[in-house]
Amino acid sequence: MVNVGILASGRGSNFEAMLQHQKLGIFQGVNLSVLIYNNPEARVKDAAAESGIASHFVDHSGKDRTDFERQLATILDSHDVQLVCLAGWDRVIGSELFQKYRWRMMNIHPALLPSFGWKGLNARYVHEAALEYGVKLTGCTVFFVDVSVEKGPIILQHPVRVLESEREMFAAKREEAIQSLSDRVLLHEHRIYSKAIQLYAEDRLRVEETTTHDEHDIRTIRAVATDLSDDWEKKWSERQRPFIEWQRKQWTELGKTVNEE
Ligand code: GRF
Repeated sequence: MVNVGILASGRGSNFEAMLQHQKLGIFQGVNLSVLIYNNPEARVKDAAAESGIASHFVDHSGKDRTDFERQLATILDSHDVQLVCLAGWDRVIGSELFQKYRWRMMNIHPALLPSFGWKGLNARYVHEAALEYGVKLTGCTVFFVDVSVEKGPIILQHPVRVLESEREMFAAKREEAIQSLSDRVLLHEHRIYSKAIQLYAEDRLRVEETTTHDEHDIRTIRAVATDLSDDWEKKWSERQRPFIEWQRKQWTELGKTVNEE
């Protein structure tokens, strides 16, 4: 059983999606054991309270990063956490915590990394930048955290086509276009993050590091080798189906369009 600790700072929809995977019995060998949040108003804490999962508030203000992260590590250790998932966490991870959870800490980004992965670019601005740039394709990425912020080894990605209607809307109703794209990407974030957790729990992810020399530099390339056969994919799709049905229903209730393109 892999104990998972989640670090979140805000809305918590990715955390809720993970909770649903647990409730619906989709995860195998995964136990969501603790949520840590650093913003006392974060909506994510309500989802934890309703589900009965332990949650801790850790205030980052007035502390240096090392002290703050040591506090996080103490909580994670007390819940025997093996895998840490950042889900809308608004702090950069320092080298001490990174070393402790090297290739055992994941994050999700609402674009196809390495595109639109600059430091400080949060979800809304990522989608705005993508629309601004005129990309035809965007999506989401689950990756292992390293000290480079959004450049860690990529685990899973899902592409989302930018709709012509969103491009047109962007000129006249900017926020609506951003919201539409953001919702359509989020739908897939909620699916691939849990898939990545399941892959980790089955020990199917391996980070390979290669050092190459080019005319400018010595670079270390880190890639993830994933043991993911067609058969596994098929079985996972079947297992995840109840979540997708739950998600479609929830999306419709919220008045959002379930356009899965
Ligand atoms: C998501 O779009 C995620 O990709 C990004 O921050 C957002 C968090 O959303 N890192 P939520 O708090 O999980 O709803």
